[in-house]
Amino acid sequence: MKETHIEVKNLWKVFGKNPNQVFDEAFINLSRSEIQSELDLITALRDVSFTVNKGETFVVMGLSGSGKSTLVRCLTRLIDPTDGHILIDGEDIVEFDENSLREFRRNKVAMVFQQFGLLPHRNVLDNAAFGLEIRGIDKESRYSTAEEMLDLVGLDGWGESRVYELSGGMQQRVGIARALAVNPEIMLMDEPFSGLDPLIRRQMRKELTSLQQEIHKTMVFITHDLEEAVSVGDKIAIMRDGEIIQLGTPLEIINKPADDFVAEFTEGITGKRFEELQAVGA
Ligand SMILES: Nc1ncnc2c1ncn2[C@@H]1O[C@H](COP(=O)(O)OP(=O)(O)O)[C@@H](O)[C@H]1O
Ligand SMILES: [Mg+2]
Repeated sequence: MKETHIEVKNLWKVFGKNPNQVFDEAFINLSRSEIQSELDLITALRDVSFTVNKGETFVVMGLSGSGKSTLVRCLTRLIDPTDGHILIDGEDIVEFDENSLREFRRNKVAMVFQQFGLLPHRNVLDNAAFGLEIRGIDKESRYSTAEEMLDLVGLDGWGESRVYELSGGMQQRVGIARALAVNPEIMLMDEPFSGLDPLIRRQMRKELTSLQQEIHKTMVFITHDLEEAVSVGDKIAIMRDGEIIQLGTPLEIINKPADDFVAEFTEGITGKRFEELQAVGA
């Protein structure tokens, strides 16, 4: 039996003054653009629901502005949702107080961003160990963990280097090592490869796929690129204007796009290309 790890239920995030206005009968059925013009509110997430099983890579795909980053930030309460529930291991983190939230962020989740967020004046090892350092872990054990993680992402021997000496792809591998070092149960990755050159991106997604076969973390991976989604995802949710318009396995989405919008994304991916993308090494 697959075990549910994350369950998002009817999640809404509305930006602006008095966001709860959107729930009034007069407005709830209006489109995002109508709500924006009538109420001056932005519906970044509209009634979003999904579940992620333990060890699964769940991809959220959509164009810029579709609500992906808002969603992933809600999962750690960097953004407080306007309405809805986020159950992690059955506990609703929307209800968490400051203490529970701090514990949760410390022990369960780690995040990897598009901008790697490394400390330029410190070496690779210190960067990989940074999450442990702020948790007060002593030098010896944080360095030994960080070294293991650098090995895992293919950066053994680079510990003493400065981050600016590394290529973009290598810097993002440091970002991934730093996230893994705190041994999170859940990895949240917000377009981690979007800032990289196409060839490097392809290599990175291949590395992530084989890494995931070793570590089996629960991952929520954000991208605007369907090839990337198909290549790394066990399931894909496609977002538009704050809503999930299709959710399924890569194969389901390629074979049966829910509407013309999704079909436009999937157009280039048929038969052989799909198999290539699904193979580790794509
Ligand atoms: N802090 C904010 N205040 C107001 N609007 C925001 C804020 N953050 C995001 N938005 C809006 O919410 C929508 C979704 O944004 P975002 O989640 O960043 O999309 P994506 O990551 O898919 O590009 C966009 O229209 C964006 O302008
Ligand atoms: Mg974003």
